[in-house]
Amino acid sequence: MRERARRLDGSWIAELATCACAALLAFATLAWEEGLHFLALGLQPAGGGSHLLRDGLLLLPPALVAVWWGVRLERAQGLGVGRVAAAVSLAFVALLAPAAAGHSAVHATDLTAAVQAQSRPAHAGPAAQENPGGLVEALQHGALDALLALPVTFVLSLGAIALLRRWGRGTSLDAVPRRLVLVVSALAVLGAAAAVPVGRAASPAYPKFSMPLSIPPVLTGANINLSMAESEQQILPGEKTRLWTYNGTFPGPIIRRPTGVPTKVTLTNNLPASAGSMTMHHHGAQTTEESDGQPSSYLVAPGASKTYTYPGIDNGAPERAAPQWYHDHRDMVTGRNVWMGLAGAFIYDDPVEQNLNLPKDEYDLPLMVADREFDSRNQIPYTFLSNGVFGDVLLVNGVPQPFHEVGDRRYRLRLYNISNKRDYSFRLSNGQSMTQIGTDSGLLPAPVSRTSIRLGPAERADVVIDFAGRLGENVVLENADHEFGPGERDAEVMQFRVTQDVPETSSAVPATLRPVPGTGTPVSTRTWSFDRTAARWTINGKVFDPDRVDAKPTLGSTERWVFRNPTTQAHLVHTHLGDQKLVSRNGQPPGPSERLKDSWHVAPGEEVVVDVKFTDYAGKFVLHCHVLEHEDDGMMTQFETVQAVAAPSYPRPPGGSGSTTKPPPTSATLSRRIKILSSKRLSRILRRGLRFEAAVPAPGTTLRAALSVRGRRIGTVRRRGLSRGRVKVTLKLSRRGKARLRRLMAQRRRASALLEVSAGTITARVRFTIRR
Ligand code: C2O
Ligand code: CU
Ligand code: CU
Repeated sequence: MRERARRLDGSWIAELATCACAALLAFATLAWEEGLHFLALGLQPAGGGSHLLRDGLLLLPPALVAVWWGVRLERAQGLGVGRVAAAVSLAFVALLAPAAAGHSAVHATDLTAAVQAQSRPAHAGPAAQENPGGLVEALQHGALDALLALPVTFVLSLGAIALLRRWGRGTSLDAVPRRLVLVVSALAVLGAAAAVPVGRAASPAYPKFSMPLSIPPVLTGANINLSMAESEQQILPGEKTRLWTYNGTFPGPIIRRPTGVPTKVTLTNNLPASAGSMTMHHHGAQTTEESDGQPSSYLVAPGASKTYTYPGIDNGAPERAAPQWYHDHRDMVTGRNVWMGLAGAFIYDDPVEQNLNLPKDEYDLPLMVADREFDSRNQIPYTFLSNGVFGDVLLVNGVPQPFHEVGDRRYRLRLYNISNKRDYSFRLSNGQSMTQIGTDSGLLPAPVSRTSIRLGPAERADVVIDFAGRLGENVVLENADHEFGPGERDAEVMQFRVTQDVPETSSAVPATLRPVPGTGTPVSTRTWSFDRTAARWTINGKVFDPDRVDAKPTLGSTERWVFRNPTTQAHLVHTHLGDQKLVSRNGQPPGPSERLKDSWHVAPGEEVVVDVKFTDYAGKFVLHCHVLEHEDDGMMTQFETVQAVAAPSYPRPPGGSGSTTKPPPTSATLSRRIKILSSKRLSRILRRGLRFEAAVPAPGTTLRAALSVRGRRIGTVRRRGLSRGRVKVTLKLSRRGKARLRRLMAQRRRASALLEVSAGTITARVRFTIRR
């Protein structure tokens, strides 16, 4: 060790001043960064005050080293305040970069990701320690954070050095020993460790099974209004929690409708404008693209409304009764929006189910399970983590680990996993088995007795459990998987208290329930690999791009889709527009509890093969991982269902089901569906377009028409969201179309023309002659 000045009189003032300046630098820089994130994005630091304290303490050692070094520099070289401040801030930032990288690697916390997620087209590039590229990402993150901090650290250093100069007058600043830096740093790190145990979520405590289960209000009308707005809910004891809700509750109201008839849901966005535009998806429904809740089109802007139409029809027949749901689907912020409360149940009922006399009314309980993390003020600020966001409090219908008083009889539980990331394996504490009667897509062919049911995000299971003979007992619904997800305190999800002696009014579950509909022979096979590419969650190596379409299945056809997971995390594959039938899982034939579903749990290394028949609506639909942060990070793509060109396919007549199909309408009847209304003279078509009338087979369809002359396409028109019945449409020609038509008609008196109109799965054609 170099020989140098020992403690001189008053040097403790210098030491104190150095520490104070370093603390100022550390905490003010942290506050600035967090404040920036908050102001720009409304993001609050996860974990609240104690987390901030810890991060500030962790920044103290680098700040101390930087200030200490600056002071020595000033003494040794006699530099001015400005230069010293520049040196100090650069030193601090240089130390901050690896510190921030380490921080992001430890937590996989990524505010940078959220920053980038707000702006197209760059997606987030968050840290993911268990994935290749995680280190590089963490370093990039650190560098960006450090760069953001540079201007403010310079200003702070300027102030700190100026202060030290005044403060330090008459004392020996260069006497500040290296030992001090080491000791204070060690203390800071210990303090940080004490402030928050790393990686442990810390929601406020509450007594479990102390709050009764609540059931959201039930809406049954054909025209439903949903208002998205901020609302305060009593979730934990003490302060209320601010949520984003549909009609003021979390989960939103239960929409309960018969299948086969349309339901219109008018959604109004009354959320704070900073929340941005929203979009709502009816998960499991068969709808047009405009009613499907697309991630980045057909959005509902702040203050605006939009009516979604759910025809309740699947391939010409009523949709199957099923425990479906609705939730926000906005590109890149679905995780945040659902976390904040935008989800609710949409249950379809039909006579097939009703005839079974399963438990109904208060004996039919939708249970929507979600985990959330609360801060010390009972709020649920959301911080994006590309690996998925967990909470440590389990909520059932928005109530933390509730209890429910039940009778000694059969109950139907519709278990929903509406969590962002967490998987559950539901079991009953007394080892009793549950009779699973249905999945995401309604009734199974036959009931299955199960002691444990695993559900990943978006999956549902319909079960019947019998409390007969258990009067006086408490039965707890547990999550057998709890040790596999971080944060959760215990295995208990909710408690049933068998307190009521009531008569049984439901029938026993019959041995057969409902056959799985035929999907036909697949015409092609496609593989979708749910992968990790260049530090992003991808499908077939690509992140989501709303302007890219990765597949164009033909309406009426069946495709075999192979879902692969080469990564280290589970993915939940969800395909919009229609249910899928399981062909095989890891090469094995489907088990009894998985037949027809809309969401598939694909564990690391697994391969799930399904058949999917595309029906009803031409348009763009998404396919994605339902781990919402994977989806937001880019694990989503689009397919576009297209009309068959040569051989149009025909919908099954309404009411038809299974394999019995009436003969399809002939072309003759179809062509009567189009009537040309305007004059077929060239001048009129050039000036005002071609006007025609067409019959629309189902509400909510998109009508597309194309005009060709002498075999060349002249123009097209598209009309969306039409109601059933006859509509009048004008097909106007573009400048290029007009030029082309003039060329085709040059030196001719007449030319043959073809108008092709498709709506839903019907394509109709009419031939006519255009005259000069
Ligand atoms: Cu439940 Cu595309 O989502
Ligand atoms: Cu869906
Ligand atoms: Cu995933």
